[in-house]
Amino acid sequence: MVSKQQLLQKLVVPAAHMAALTPLALTIWHFYTNQLSVNPVREITLRTGRYALILLIASLAVTPLNTLFRRRWLIPLRKILGLYAFGYAALHFLVFVGVDYLFDWELIKGALFEKRYALAGFSAFLILLPLALTSTKGWMRRLGKRWKSLHRLVYLAGGLVIVHFVWLVKSDIRRPLLYGAVLGLFLLLRLPAVRRRQARRRA
Ligand code: HEM
Repeated sequence: MVSKQQLLQKLVVPAAHMAALTPLALTIWHFYTNQLSVNPVREITLRTGRYALILLIASLAVTPLNTLFRRRWLIPLRKILGLYAFGYAALHFLVFVGVDYLFDWELIKGALFEKRYALAGFSAFLILLPLALTSTKGWMRRLGKRWKSLHRLVYLAGGLVIVHFVWLVKSDIRRPLLYGAVLGLFLLLRLPAVRRRQARRRA
């Protein structure tokens, strides 16, 4: 017989795939029906960056939600949402290097080092890359305890994305700060002292 947990997992996994793919489908649809802004490339860059950050934060929400409310069926979403976050970040980067800079590596190198926000974004991307590549069970086994330490770097990547966002907005930094606050809260909930308190409360 299928347990309630298995059933929820069966429902929540396809729902996560759909939720993560819908913004991409909508962006493609808006592109072909000319519903993007007067600057479609900028709009696609902004959208892919935003989706990458939202999915990254959503994947980081899984562990605290499980710790707080014992929802083990949410656990597979951590990897799924994390990989989609990386996928959108890769698209975001690809639009920047391929469409904005036509793969002119000299110009790209210049832009990355001249624009501090681009450097922060690129550093975040360089951290996310090995995390995505080692997200398989095989790498988990091969790396053993080091896998967890490596994957903790996701918080550093998240922090760099917030810096990237703060540096690229001209005046109103409320939006990046809001994302930063959510990220900070999830990081806080992971601290051993907070987790111990939570476990005591539950007991
Ligand atoms: C790989 C290097 C990266 C480059 C070169 C880059 C470049 C850019 C550019 C050009 C913009 C638009 C700036 C504007 O026109 O106002 C942008 C916005 C943004 N990027 Fe990146 N980015 C990078 C990495 C990332 C990563 C890894 C993430 C998230 C995981 C990210 C998230 C964002 C967000 C959230 C925005 C603002 C979206 C909004 O205003 O709603 N970026 N980025």
